[in-house]
Amino acid sequence: MIGSLVATAFWAMVPAYVPNNAAVLAGGGHPIDGGREWRGARLLGDGKTWRGTAVGTVVGVVIALVLNAVNDPASTAVGVALPRFEFPAAVALAFGAMCGDIGASFLKRRSGRERGAAFPGLDQLDFVVGALALVFLVDPAWATNVFTLPVIAAVVVMTPVLHVATNVGAYALGVKNEPW
Ligand code: CTP
Ligand code: MG
Repeated sequence: MIGSLVATAFWAMVPAYVPNNAAVLAGGGHPIDGGREWRGARLLGDGKTWRGTAVGTVVGVVIALVLNAVNDPASTAVGVALPRFEFPAAVALAFGAMCGDIGASFLKRRSGRERGAAFPGLDQLDFVVGALALVFLVDPAWATNVFTLPVIAAVVVMTPVLHVATNVGAYALGVKNEPW
């Protein structure tokens, strides 16, 4: 029961988990805010770029298609009927995750935090909120079917743990500047 919840929650969120990590590898280039400031601080900062956002979104969607391709053997292996991604849902999960992260940077700049500063809680869940909000908006039938309340609860508990672990790993490997 718990195992199938966690398996479903993890599978359904992979297209939202991958974009931020892909953006870290693809980052650089023009910042989305074009260097503009608002109320004495950058609108978003140099850490949110067009390239990172675009590459992150595309990689997230491609990963969802790959997951669909291996759905049968994976479902058999874990003994759970894992969700299949409808294309609009895949785009919403990936792009929504990037938007949640961008929204968090907006809030960080408003609260005086420099680029790269930690904002515990927000850092771990910004992309979850963005991904879930957009997928419920774009593909409500698919989203209500996959993201039942217990699955959402599993996502909210599981994500911060995974997020901290991957970022500490990326920091240790030298691909990320801060371990959050
Ligand atoms: N990145 C990007 N575009 C995005 C998100 C991330 O280019 N939309 C890249 C940037 O190179 C960024 C890195 O991924 O520096 C790490 O992402 P993140 O930790 O979200 O950004 P920070 O640099 O820490 O900036 P912020 O304080 O605004 O979160
Ligand atoms: Mg950061």
